Amino acid sequence: MINKESPIPMYYQIQEHIRENIKQHKWAKGEAIPSERILTEQFGVSRMTVRQAVQGLVDEGILMRKRGSGTYVSNEKVEQPLKEITSFTKLMEQRGMKASSKITVFTVRKPNEIEAENLKISLGFDVYHIERIRLGDQIPIAIETSIVPYYMAEGLTEADVQHSLYEFLEVKKGYSLGDGQQSVEAIAASKRISKLLDVAIDSPILQIERVATLKTGAPFEYVRSQYVGSRFKFYL
Ligand code: GLP
Repeated sequence: MINKESPIPMYYQIQEHIRENIKQHKWAKGEAIPSERILTEQFGVSRMTVRQAVQGLVDEGILMRKRGSGTYVSNEKVEQPLKEITSFTKLMEQRGMKASSKITVFTVRKPNEIEAENLKISLGFDVYHIERIRLGDQIPIAIETSIVPYYMAEGLTEADVQHSLYEFLEVKKGYSLGDGQQSVEAIAASKRISKLLDVAIDSPILQIERVATLKTGAPFEYVRSQYVGSRFKFYL
């Protein structure tokens, strides 16, 4: 099954094999894949090679780890995470990590012109302004500043956004979330960002600006996020 004489690295051959199993539905979405020990025996390679192969597919979002329970075939498509809108909480779950948030701002105010334009609302409308530090397994990964039209999320509380904004919108408000349009740029961590994200000043940060829309096409969130470059590589 694995050609040890081939110039193609063994971990890569294993990955191809796993991809094929998933494609042919031999390994179903959401199901656990065989343990490292079994794969090591099956492929006749070292455990390290199996680990490298599996980790690569976890990084690509094809497989996901669940803490203490093993590795699974991912349910969600994460091939184009930049276009998709996946909640932070879900994204962390897919990676077998526990999401949490520190709320730094939670207020209702009037939008500025850019926000009103992006959210397609008039300047007289109210918006929620929510700033959160997002953590995965207690490690700060991003700061997200979400501006959400008040009328769409009326009743939203700090407790809701402590958990998941998107879950509130989907479950409590019954919205079907659509997709997003975004731009990405690299910036250097400012003093404030470095403090909030616990990174050195000037370290690489990915800044993402996005307008997320409902399935109906109505914008529901204008968000600006700063992700720690080194901790978020897997996502992009
Ligand atoms: C992602 C998006 C944000 C969005 C967040 C919601 O991180 N980039 O725009 O606000 O998910 O996550 P949650 O539902 O966990 O609050």
